[in-house]
Amino acid sequence: MKTIGVLTSGGDAPGMNAAIRAVVRTAIENNMHVLGIKNGYEGLMKGDVVEMNLRSVSNIINRGGTILHSARSEGFKTEAGQEKAAEMCKALGIEGLVIIGGDGSFRGAQDLSKRGIVCVGIPGTIDNDIACTDNTIGYDTATNTVMEMVDKVRDTTESHSRCSVIEVMGRDAGYIALYSGIAVGATIILVPEIPYDMEKDVIDVMKRTVATGKRHFVIILAEGCGDAPEMAKEIQEKTGIETRATILGHVQRGGSPTVRDRVLASRMGNYAARVLRYDDRSCIVAEHAGTIVDYPIDKALSMTKQLDIDVYRTAHEISI
Ligand code: ADP
Ligand code: F6P
Repeated sequence: MKTIGVLTSGGDAPGMNAAIRAVVRTAIENNMHVLGIKNGYEGLMKGDVVEMNLRSVSNIINRGGTILHSARSEGFKTEAGQEKAAEMCKALGIEGLVIIGGDGSFRGAQDLSKRGIVCVGIPGTIDNDIACTDNTIGYDTATNTVMEMVDKVRDTTESHSRCSVIEVMGRDAGYIALYSGIAVGATIILVPEIPYDMEKDVIDVMKRTVATGKRHFVIILAEGCGDAPEMAKEIQEKTGIETRATILGHVQRGGSPTVRDRVLASRMGNYAARVLRYDDRSCIVAEHAGTIVDYPIDKALSMTKQLDIDVYRTAHEISI
């Protein structure tokens, strides 16, 4: 019987548990033996593993976080760390590995696959910044969380005729900001992919909107292109409108996954385990136009994707 391992790595994302569940159940149904590796690559180097069975993944499809825990491991980035991890796989009899994480985790997968461990990556990150896939696991839940939180901030922003600058996560990408910004009807959405001018794109827009009778403002700022407290101060000074900053922070990484994330994670987890069982090749699993596909790791890591400029234009035109 073939033995595989599964781990979660990098920033956690809602739906990672659903992916673990699908990997474990598919593997066992297809006569494989599964080890759960704790704390990502850090646990792999130490051999921190647990036997998984059909019941170890009961009642987790609805839970945020990851039952295997996640970590960012500096040690694994070194040649020595990768060698140690590959040796540990061999010692534990792990022939194939499912890695649920982001781009950084996939670079680790690329290194391990060169050391003879077959690695299948599953994109799990709230940022949606993985080029080879239309959607990453956790992104839908995070944008819905942002929408719910901003709806609440809007209530008080409106009552006090204020401006709220709300900073959302996304690292260097603006997906969370753009899509949640449209959903909450933000007046201004600022993303790293599209450079902005503070005077023209923020201050002037606010003044023009005041002239149409608007009394409160919601600005969604992606963390990759500004700092909410600084921006709030500048807006208040230049417009005279009382302005508050809200940094949503790690609330965006938690919570019960949405239907979309549970289904995406289940499909990707199932696909990944089947690749290890029947094809035995390293790759990254992805969603393309509603279908689950895969790419060789080198190709997946060399791909790029652009924020949809049409979506940005739509947001801009209907925000005033
Ligand atoms: P994510 O996977 O969400 O992008 P990180 O960038 O923090 O998150 O990467 C997760 C882990 O993957 C890192 O802590 C490290 O152990 C490993 N990793 C990241 N980059 C590399 C790399 N270039 N080579 C090998 N391992 C890497
Ligand atoms: O990659 C996910 C993410 O939540 C980013 O949006 C954010 O920039 C980063 O991780 C935060 O990392 P940490 O949990 O280490 O503060």
